[in-house]
Amino acid sequence: MKNNIKITEVLLTNLSSIGADAQGGLTRLLFDENWKQAQETLKASFEDAGLSAAYDAAGNLIGSVVGSEHPEETVMTGSHVDTVRNGGTLDGQYGILAGFLAIQRLLEKHGTPKRSLSVISFAEEEGSRFPFAFWGSKNLVSSVDREILRDVADKDGVSFPQAMKEAGFDFSAKADAPRTDIVAFVEAHIEQGAVLEHLDKQIGVVTAIAGQKRYNVRLIGEANHAGTTPMSLRRDALEGASLCIDTLLREAKRLGDPLVLTFGKLEPKPNIVNVVPGEVSFTVDTRHTDAASLDGFAQYVESTIRSIADDLDLQVEIDNWMDESPVPMDSGLIELLSDVCSEQGIDYHVMHSGAGHDSQILAPKIPTAMLFIPSIKGISHNPAEGSKMEDLVAGIDVLEAALYQLAYT
Ligand code: HGY
Ligand code: MN
Ligand code: MN
Repeated sequence: MKNNIKITEVLLTNLSSIGADAQGGLTRLLFDENWKQAQETLKASFEDAGLSAAYDAAGNLIGSVVGSEHPEETVMTGSHVDTVRNGGTLDGQYGILAGFLAIQRLLEKHGTPKRSLSVISFAEEEGSRFPFAFWGSKNLVSSVDREILRDVADKDGVSFPQAMKEAGFDFSAKADAPRTDIVAFVEAHIEQGAVLEHLDKQIGVVTAIAGQKRYNVRLIGEANHAGTTPMSLRRDALEGASLCIDTLLREAKRLGDPLVLTFGKLEPKPNIVNVVPGEVSFTVDTRHTDAASLDGFAQYVESTIRSIADDLDLQVEIDNWMDESPVPMDSGLIELLSDVCSEQGIDYHVMHSGAGHDSQILAPKIPTAMLFIPSIKGISHNPAEGSKMEDLVAGIDVLEAALYQLAYT
């Protein structure tokens, strides 16, 4: 146990220093310098531990051990190496390190597995740099139409192909064929909510991952003089945005859990004290565990924005750049994780995930499951994100036992 705590601390501290920002958080964005350094650090760690490690064409880093009896079947674990801007040090990278440590322990205790065993550091999950999420997992199991990203740029104007090139990857290179050898995927992740802490449970076994839709919305009115423009003659884009936000948040609260709605980004232009805002861009993120409820609310969101824009004589652009359905996890793997927790005397809770995860991209194609560890005060996507060491280690223990059943028996 002591050894595991030490290793966990060292690995987490090392990796968390790459992309550490001034506010004590972590900012590691797809293909940026910090991303590359983190992937290279993980690659060296994987190789030091005797795994073969290589990038795929999309920038996913995969550490592997070939199975002795069924090398063509791969049991995989892992999570994403990227973060939100000024995020915490556990979202994503905990799952990579938990998978790596679990595999190390299995090799030490049991030698070569019967099936091949891999840990993946997905290139990107958050959609924090470019308006595209799950780049890593989508490239692993399906074919991504890269053309939609050719002209996409980040907030500094760096194009997706250019960012890829700077990290050593070729946008125009042939994409890898979707992987078909993965027979099971198990992801360890922090809960990013307060349910486990509230129920005083140490492990969450995930049944389903909420669907989510994300939008970029742009309202266009007319910039004008704050002093000489009568209220009745204004086409104030910020008035429109604030009406949309107030109306929609009220409706989301009326409909209640598990529906969630977030306006994470709001950018008025020209954003000057004595100018009526002529333009406002804002984002919408809405999620639900039931597909019909999510679709119904999303239609209400879009129609409400259009009607408020119409009333205020504003032009409106709505770009729905993410649309992921709710996804159930594999019942057999849910049972396996639950049995492992019972055998280890761990108090677990079966629950859905309000956060999106790479597992939701894999689950429609590969038997997939997730285990959660508690987040202190339920905080995530925030430098204050944290989990107790005993919970970090318990997650690795459960993951190790599940991977043993999948790859060694
Ligand atoms: O936003 C999410 O649900 C995840 O943390 N990417
Ligand atoms: Mn996240
Ligand atoms: Mn995550």
